[in-house]
Amino acid sequence: MTIRSVIAACGAYLPSRRLTNADLEKMVETSDEWIVQRTGIRERRIAADGESTGDMAIAAARQAMERAGLKGADIDGIIVATTTPDQSFPSVAIKVQQALATKIGPVFDVQAACSGFIYALAVADNFIRAGQGKCFLVIGAEKMSSILDWDDRGTAILFGDGAGAVILQAEEGKGTVADSGVLSTHLCANGNLKDILYTSGGTSTTQDSGVIIMDGKEVFRYAVQYMADIVSDVLAFNKIDAGQIDWLVPHQANIRIIEGAARKLNLGMDRVVVTVERHGNTSAASIPLALEEAVSAGKIKKGDLLLMEALGAGLTWGAALVRF
Ligand code: UT7
Repeated sequence: MTIRSVIAACGAYLPSRRLTNADLEKMVETSDEWIVQRTGIRERRIAADGESTGDMAIAAARQAMERAGLKGADIDGIIVATTTPDQSFPSVAIKVQQALATKIGPVFDVQAACSGFIYALAVADNFIRAGQGKCFLVIGAEKMSSILDWDDRGTAILFGDGAGAVILQAEEGKGTVADSGVLSTHLCANGNLKDILYTSGGTSTTQDSGVIIMDGKEVFRYAVQYMADIVSDVLAFNKIDAGQIDWLVPHQANIRIIEGAARKLNLGMDRVVVTVERHGNTSAASIPLALEEAVSAGKIKKGDLLLMEALGAGLTWGAALVRF
């Protein structure tokens, strides 16, 4: 018998304000044509003034709990992946705990930039498999608009705000890939690449968050290589071939990176969840937002085999194989 962490429900929150490529044309020297061609993005959502990462995380988590029919007292722990917390402390997860009156237990944030959701999922899965809780909220929430240099056309056009949440619940499995739940997680980082994507500030240096600075070409190059490598790791570890994957649920940074990963898997784009054209890059929120959308649309169904993968600042990267 193996304990598996099964996704019991998903939730999502997107701010109502849309920032289109046409809007950005009025702010920096860019064009809708360039943005669509180079990234696949057409619009992104931007949080309202005063709307925080915590507010979005709470909304997404509340929806997931309602859909699962769970109360606060059913939740053993909360892990929020974010790189844009409301405050240095307490964590965003603490705000979610208070708002949703969840149990006393492990409640904390993880920071692995755009890979954050995969990292948080892996941590929660390990808690559950170790028997340290049966029900976890795992959330990716970001207000990327608060750390953008709106004069830098290389980054201002890429990012958006939002939050996605899943509820992981312990279930007994047989220890095979036919089980429901998280089947494997794979986490990687290479600190030698810390200077190709970073923020210009931080609490212990400039005492503010700073803004995103990115060598896009370099990040792109590593994203294609590392995503291909990790996909091979996932297939080999689980002794499956790419043909068994029902859905690729990738981090939504750039349609060209996503298409590259799909090609590597020999998956048609009709088996890939794509939200980048409407959400932009929402960092740690992008995978749970994409998952929720595909589940709500009836595309992803119970029993489907999902491959999630992401890469972000660090560089960090990771993947998870999950049977929904
Ligand atoms: O989620 C975290 C991980 N992040 C990523 O995965 C992002 C990875 N990188 C990328 O997605 C792409 O590198 C970008 C979309 C950021 C940039 O695309 P690119 O094809 O690598 O363009 P580039 O940076 O090489 O720039 C090509 C040209 C340059 O002009 P010159 O030097 O050739 O004259 C840029 O100045 O495009 C110019 N450019 C723009 N033009 C219009 C850069 N940004 C813009 C813009 N509008 N917004």
